Amino acid sequence: MQAEFAIIGGTGVYDPALLDHSTRQMIHTSFGAVEVTIGEYKGKRIVFLPRHGYKHSVPPHKINFRANIRALQELGVQQVLATAAVGSLKRELPPGSLVIVDDFIDMTKNRVQTFFEGEEGVIHIDMTDPYCNRLRRQLVEVARENGILVQDGGVYVCTEGPRFETRAEIRTYASWGGDVVGMTSVPEVILAKEARFCYATVGIVTNYCSGISPHALTHQEVIDTMKDRIETVRKLFLLTIEN
Ligand code: HPA
Repeated sequence: MQAEFAIIGGTGVYDPALLDHSTRQMIHTSFGAVEVTIGEYKGKRIVFLPRHGYKHSVPPHKINFRANIRALQELGVQQVLATAAVGSLKRELPPGSLVIVDDFIDMTKNRVQTFFEGEEGVIHIDMTDPYCNRLRRQLVEVARENGILVQDGGVYVCTEGPRFETRAEIRTYASWGGDVVGMTSVPEVILAKEARFCYATVGIVTNYCSGISPHALTHQEVIDTMKDRIETVRKLFLLTIEN
């Protein structure tokens, strides 16, 4: 039985407890091994993959994105719901806000961004709509029907990390039209597109970005806000999967 959906859990989302009859499994790909949880929800086969590992031991710049996406491909996944902790570039998007992102600006520096290494010829994939519009609309509709406040669309600025940004960087990203800043959506979204997945991301705002926040940023602040919002995001994902 092929998996219908995968959930890629970002920072603060490591627990596949929502799935029935779940088992952990190592998937061996040509890019490396990936540990996933495979289970069911309302009769649908779902794969859960914690992006930073089950103990949050893999920092953003060391994530094996190609192995992760290839593992999901090998499991027959076609639709992916991802979470991402993000900082906010806008005062009107306070910590706790949920943003269903629809575009990105890539500020990463050292990441392999493609499966296409030239063997199949030179391939350039379209990035007009990097995230899946159908799944985004579905998430937004389910959120509205269930009284969950979300922002429909938003530009995700992806930095290399693992450090947070400077004030000058944040001023620049805001002036470019960014909404939120995180460290993981690129190249995940690109590889997902190459794999022909319908891939959507819910950005969970855990903090105002540096210079907008009244204090210096800490990872603990990110974890604490995430804890408050994760139940809501879980509900949103399950209702979307059910839909
Ligand atoms: N910057 C980059 N990544 C993040 C942030 C941030 O402020 N918050 C959570 N992930």
